[in-house]
Amino acid sequence: MSSLTWKDGFRTGIEEMDKHHKKFFDYLAKLEGAAGGNRGRDVIERGLKMADDYVRYHFTEEEKLLENAGFSGLSHQKKEHEFFVSQVKELRESYSKGDACLPISTLVFLRDWFSHHILDEDKKYGEFLASMKG
Ligand SMILES: [Fe+2]
Ligand SMILES: [Fe+2]
Repeated sequence: MSSLTWKDGFRTGIEEMDKHHKKFFDYLAKLEGAAGGNRGRDVIERGLKMADDYVRYHFTEEEKLLENAGFSGLSHQKKEHEFFVSQVKELRESYSKGDACLPISTLVFLRDWFSHHILDEDKKYGEFLASMKG
């Protein structure tokens, strides 16, 4: 899996959220390193837990921000976030049940979903918040 890193084009204009997004890409890159490097299951399990905890933290903070701003797309954001959280949960469960490896295709899925979510959804609140500042 290549180009796991955050790109300038992902910028929402909200610095704190951009930082969170970057950090989630870092977690995926670390997981890729662990999965590709045949690291022990415990290392991968810990990495999955960290990515899971972090993305939940990010979604919570993002939803708080949007709620405070009165952003009309909040409920759609919440639905998408819930979907992603459930995917990550499923992935963690199937891995800890003993799937032999963490396929790179899974990490690609997480990365692609997250990238598209930033581009198609998160950027919208960036514009909205920028317009509120006048
Ligand atoms: Fe979001
Ligand atoms: Fe986000």
